[in-house]
Amino acid sequence: MPLLDWLNRGETVTVADHVPYRLLEAADDLSFGDKDSPNMLIHGDNLEALKALLPYYAGKVKCIFIDPPYNTKSAFEHYDDNLEHSQWLAMMYPRLEMLRALLAEDGSIWVTIDDNEAHYLKVIMDEIFGRNNFAANVVWRSSDASNNDAKSFSLDHNQVLVYGKATDWLAKPLARTEAANAHYKNPDNDPKGAWFSGNLSSPKPRPNLRFPIASPTGHEIQPPSNGWRWKKETLFEMIKTGEIIFSKNGTRLIKKTYLVDQGGLAPSTLWDDIEETGHNRQAKYELKKLFPETTTAELFATPKPERLMQRILHIATEVDDLVLDSFLGSGTTAAVAHKMGRRYIGIEMGDHAKTHCAPRLQKVIEGEQGGISEAVEWKGGGGFRFYQLGATIFDADGNINPAIRFPHLAAHVWFCETKTAYRQPKKKSPLLGLHDGTAYYLLYNGILGDKSVSGGNVLTMPILKSLPPHDGPRVIYGETSRLSPERLKTLNIVFKQTPYDIKAR
Ligand SMILES: C[S@@+](CC[C@H](N)C(=O)[O-])C[C@H]1O[C@@H](n2cnc3c(N)ncnc32)[C@H](O)[C@@H]1O
Repeated sequence: MPLLDWLNRGETVTVADHVPYRLLEAADDLSFGDKDSPNMLIHGDNLEALKALLPYYAGKVKCIFIDPPYNTKSAFEHYDDNLEHSQWLAMMYPRLEMLRALLAEDGSIWVTIDDNEAHYLKVIMDEIFGRNNFAANVVWRSSDASNNDAKSFSLDHNQVLVYGKATDWLAKPLARTEAANAHYKNPDNDPKGAWFSGNLSSPKPRPNLRFPIASPTGHEIQPPSNGWRWKKETLFEMIKTGEIIFSKNGTRLIKKTYLVDQGGLAPSTLWDDIEETGHNRQAKYELKKLFPETTTAELFATPKPERLMQRILHIATEVDDLVLDSFLGSGTTAAVAHKMGRRYIGIEMGDHAKTHCAPRLQKVIEGEQGGISEAVEWKGGGGFRFYQLGATIFDADGNINPAIRFPHLAAHVWFCETKTAYRQPKKKSPLLGLHDGTAYYLLYNGILGDKSVSGGNVLTMPILKSLPPHDGPRVIYGETSRLSPERLKTLNIVFKQTPYDIKAR
C-alpha cells in the first residue's frame, strides 16, 4: 500500500510506543455532580493522556470525535494552529494510533478537518485505520454566509472523515424528515396510508422475466427492457393484494411503496442544512449565551455547534455508549454527549479545560437550556470527574514507581499481555483474569498478605497453592521464582519477572 512520507517519519511511527505510562489523578475540587459518574475531563497533552487511558479503555470506545487544530497558520487566543506541515503530521500520527487502540470493534472515528491538511490526513488515516474501513468524507457547511471579501474562493465547508474500526461498521439511519415523507401521497385513499410509485424493473437483464401483462382495459402492458422485478406468480399475487395496481387508463402498472414500510434515512455525505447541523457562527453564539459575562476575545474561538455533534452521536452511538474527544476545545462533544445520555472522556491540553470545559459541563449538569437542550428535553443531572496527569508508572530505567498500588500495576500487566482493557474485580485478587484460555496472575504489593518471602511477591510452592486455581496455562508475574524451570514447565506456568518483563513503554 502506498504510504505518505515526511521528514522524520521513521521517528514518528515509534513515538506512541515510547510515551511513558502515567497515572490519572482525580481533582475533586474541579469535579462536579454525581461522584460515581464515569464521565472524565482530563487536563493534559493527549499524547500522554491517551496512553494513560489504554490499560483501562482499550477497545471500549464506541465513538471518537476529534476536531484537531486544522493547521490554518492562525494563532488563536487559546491555542496555536501553526505547525510546519511535517510537524502537523508527526503530531497527528501517534495520537491516531492510540485512538485506534481505544476504539471498540464496532466503533467509529470522526475527524473534522479542512483543505489545509484534509488530503494528507486521509492518507495517514488510511494507513492507520485501514483503507477498507473508510466510511465517508462528509462535507459539512461550516459557514452560514459566504465571504465576499475572500481573495479567491470563500471556504464554506469542513470535511469530516469517518472510519469504522471494522469494515462492516454501519451508520445508524436518521429519522425521516418531512421533506422525505412529502414524496408519499394517498390519492386513492389506500387504507395502508401514503405511498409513492416504486420501481417495477429488474436491476439486471432477466430475459425470463420479460412477459407482457393483460390489463383490465384490454391493453397488453409490455415489460421493462430488463424484465420485471418479480416472476409471474409473485407479480399476479401483488396485483391481487393491491400492492401493484393498474393506471387509470390501464396502460401501466404502478407498484405502491408505502411510507409505513420505510425505515430511517441513510445519512447523506452532504450536510448543508444549517438548521440541522448548525454552523460556526451559531457555535460561537451558543458559547456566548453560556458565558454572557465573557468578552468575545476570551470566548473560545473555534467551537463546533452542538447540533453537529448531536448528528454525529446519533449516527454513531446509543445511550450509555462511551464517546471520546481528545481535542476537547470548549467542551462541545462532552456537553452534547452528556445531554444525550452517553458516557464520555474529554481531553484538553489548554487551561481552558478548567476555565471553559469544566464550567460548561457544570452548567449542563445544572440543566442549562442552550444548544440542543430543548431538542433532547434536557433537564440536568449527572456529573463528571476532573483529572490531571499524575506520576509515571515506571521510571526511565523501567523500575516500578514504589508509589504505584496493585490495581494500577495489574492494569498495566494485563494490558501488556492481552492488549485489552483491565476490569478491576470487586474483590482484590492476584488473578487478573483469563484471556484466550490463559490465566494471568500478579504478585505485587503483598496482594496475598504477608504469607511468605517478600510479603507474597515471590513465587514459592505454598504461594502457588494459595492462588486461585486454573486448569490451563498460567502466566505469573512476581519479583522472583523459587520454582525450577523444569517444575514451572511441568506445571504449565510461564513465570515473568517484575519489572523487567512488563513493557514499560
Ligand atoms: C479546534 S479546537 C476543538 C474545538 C472543539 N471541537 C469545540 O467544539 O470547542 C482544538 C483543541 O485542541 C486542543 N489541543 C491541541 N493540541 C492538543 C494536545 N496535544 N492535547 C490536548 N489538546 C490539544 C487545543 O488546545 C484546542 O482547544
